[in-house]
Amino acid sequence: MTNKFLLLSAALLLLLPAHAQGPVQKEGTTLKEAYKDKFLIGTALDRWVISGRDSLSLALVKQQFNAISPGNDMKWERIHPKPGVYNFEPADRYVEFGEENGMNILCHVLIWHSQTPAWVFQDASGGPASRDTLLRRMKDHIFTIMGRYGDRIDFWDVVNEALNDDGTIRDNNWSGIIGKDYVEKAFGFARDAAPDAYLIYNDYSLANPKKRDGAVRLIKDLQSKGIRVDAIGMQGHYSLDDPSLDDLEASINAFASLGVEVLITELDISVLPSPWNYRGADIRTNFELREKLNPYKDSLPDSMQVRLADRYADLFDVFVRHSDQIGRVTFWGVTDRGSWKNNFPVRGRTDYPLLFDRNHRPKPAYDAVIRVAGGTE
Ligand code: XIL
Repeated sequence: MTNKFLLLSAALLLLLPAHAQGPVQKEGTTLKEAYKDKFLIGTALDRWVISGRDSLSLALVKQQFNAISPGNDMKWERIHPKPGVYNFEPADRYVEFGEENGMNILCHVLIWHSQTPAWVFQDASGGPASRDTLLRRMKDHIFTIMGRYGDRIDFWDVVNEALNDDGTIRDNNWSGIIGKDYVEKAFGFARDAAPDAYLIYNDYSLANPKKRDGAVRLIKDLQSKGIRVDAIGMQGHYSLDDPSLDDLEASINAFASLGVEVLITELDISVLPSPWNYRGADIRTNFELREKLNPYKDSLPDSMQVRLADRYADLFDVFVRHSDQIGRVTFWGVTDRGSWKNNFPVRGRTDYPLLFDRNHRPKPAYDAVIRVAGGTE
């Protein structure tokens, strides 16, 4: 190539809008390379990414991540929308994508109270199903999905969000009909369906001391009944100041001392004000949109980019120090544009919770996370 040609290409590149230039690999390293000796680095994939419709995000996924979670496509309402009707297509694509790219593949999620159709909990006349019926449905669902993907999916979220913030078992459709032992039943079925599978209990706000203690009690109870749980997934929907690093570390230590691995399963950091100081991630929560809750509609000020980068650095510093206890750190999405946080817990806001911006460009937070891997923070 002549110098003239190089100059011309460089000039043309400058004329292109940022989003047309494609993902940029910074300084020759990537997230998965930077952390390869520490833990897997995952992301949640939605169908518009896997299908290639958002081809720049797809390129980022291949370049930066070695582990994946399905954003929605394996939830009950998607994969098992009607009695006896399974829609495996999107999950098949997801698993094939992971296999083609040699990634660690996770199923999210077998048993949860959200994104589960009403019929699951009803009898033929629309009243509540009996305990036996619901247990049969639970078993059928778990056996069917684990039967299909048992040896192709590496990690399984068996139960999501069974705990209240105070550490007690939640009242939901599962516990209401089956009883508080529904968690034990779900893990028992999963273990029977795939005896060697890696099984996870997943929840949010697990750095909160009361909820941490509840999770410890729950896992100990399962263990005392001979049911092996392989990991606790800490969702990780965090903000700039919550949770504290001390609480986070205390939970990682408490869970690891149960003999299970810790996974950070759904990491994102909201930079927006939280309405009424809401800290949870219960997807049924919704607050009204008010102007002052959406302060960065057009762009994020530099000072906030720096705060986000510092917060990411602090969290990854904890993860690195505990890397012998942590198996995988998964971001909940690829770019800020695709993040669920733009609509949770308030619909229609502009949030900036991930490492790649709306034009697929790495943010200062990305550089900070890469730097922490090198031990220079
Ligand atoms: C979210 C998805 O990202 C959204 O697209 C969907 O509308 C609602 O659910 N905890 C979980 C995830 O376990 O499944 C949720 O994902 C976020 C909170």
